[in-house]
Amino acid sequence: MVTTPLLPSDYLDLVSPLRAGADLRGRIEAVHPETGDAATIVIRPGQGWRGHTAGQYVRIGVDVDGVRLWRAYSITSPTDCQDGRVTITVKAIPDGKVSNHLVRRVEPGTLIQLDQATGDFVLPQARPAKVLYLTAGSGITPVMGMLRDTEFDDVVMVHCAPKAQDVIFRSELHSLVADGKLRLTEVHTDTDGMLDITRLDELVPDWAERETWACGPAGLLDAAEKHWCEHGVQDRLHTERFRPSIVAAGDGGEVTFSATGKTVEADGATPLLDVGEEAGVLMPSGCRMGICFGCVTPLKAGAVRDLRTGEITEAEPGVLIQTCVSAAAGPCDIER
Ligand SMILES: Cc1cc2nc3c(=O)[nH]c(=O)nc-3n(C[C@H](O)[C@H](O)[C@H](O)COP(=O)(O)OP(=O)(O)OC[C@H]3O[C@@H](n4cnc5c(N)ncnc54)[C@H](O)[C@@H]3O)c2cc1C
Ligand code: FES
Repeated sequence: MVTTPLLPSDYLDLVSPLRAGADLRGRIEAVHPETGDAATIVIRPGQGWRGHTAGQYVRIGVDVDGVRLWRAYSITSPTDCQDGRVTITVKAIPDGKVSNHLVRRVEPGTLIQLDQATGDFVLPQARPAKVLYLTAGSGITPVMGMLRDTEFDDVVMVHCAPKAQDVIFRSELHSLVADGKLRLTEVHTDTDGMLDITRLDELVPDWAERETWACGPAGLLDAAEKHWCEHGVQDRLHTERFRPSIVAAGDGGEVTFSATGKTVEADGATPLLDVGEEAGVLMPSGCRMGICFGCVTPLKAGAVRDLRTGEITEAEPGVLIQTCVSAAAGPCDIER
């Protein structure tokens, strides 16, 4: 009664937000620039943090201009960090709300929301004899988590970035090379052109024998999946995507968010998650690419299109949609 309308836990949150039993949060303790547009964020997770496996990602909730936005970031610190802190490494993308906030504006001391680490882009229990890491841009992050965590006798990395100064973790990678722990080929796409995956033999003659982890833009991963498949070694390729592969767009329509009482026009290519956020509707989300189901919402009326497959879902009682990979397919009503 004394604390009404707040709960005692609300007061505890003020003095001890990372305590056991509280909603999982983290405190940003430092921000270390890596390149002109990437930075490593050092986070002290709350006491409920259960740790991670190298290669996994964490969903974080960040307040940007008063709006809580959730995004996924791969964990770049090793699993046995003695100080209990974890790092993520973020590359600011043009017009990116969260990435620019984290790289350029966030202050040490800021509290963020955390989920437990998750993801299956991880190393197997049985160590492969030969490893290939194939990465581009910010796709280096989960692999850096692996490199910092597990040593292999024979590990090759092919990494693409526009220029040498854009290569995140470049000096650490070169230290590993100098210590004989890594063979590295950097492809500087501004001068070398895009990596032609069909000519991978020239860089890594025994690529097909290597257990491979690949992370980067859709173009690279699509080409890698095709190449590994054509050589019958698709089982050796493990990929992590930061964005869904959008294959199908159609006509949009009028989208109503009936719980909030907002109606907006949407095209047939923009995910309803983005449409709702843009309209100021509180939309739950997580990975924003169709893997975590953090955005699942009832479809009350109308139809939506799955942007990954083109499949149309029509409203029926109990029908749920993933708003991050669904776009309007005519007028529809989303229960938010
Ligand atoms: C499993 C997983 C792990 C990830 N790990 C990392 C990581 O370690 N480091 C990292 O920097 N990012 C990572 N990401 C991407 C990250 O979650 C965000 O998508 C990214 O930071 C952009 O968010 P934003 O709010 O800045 O952009 P938004 O404001 O959401 O989008 C701005 C514009 O950029 C486009 N866009 C959105 N995401 C991307 C993208 N990834 N690349 C290019 N254009 C995009 C949007 O379509 C939009 O037009 C990961 C994503 C997933 C699913
Ligand atoms: S936000 Fe993860 S599935 Fe939609």
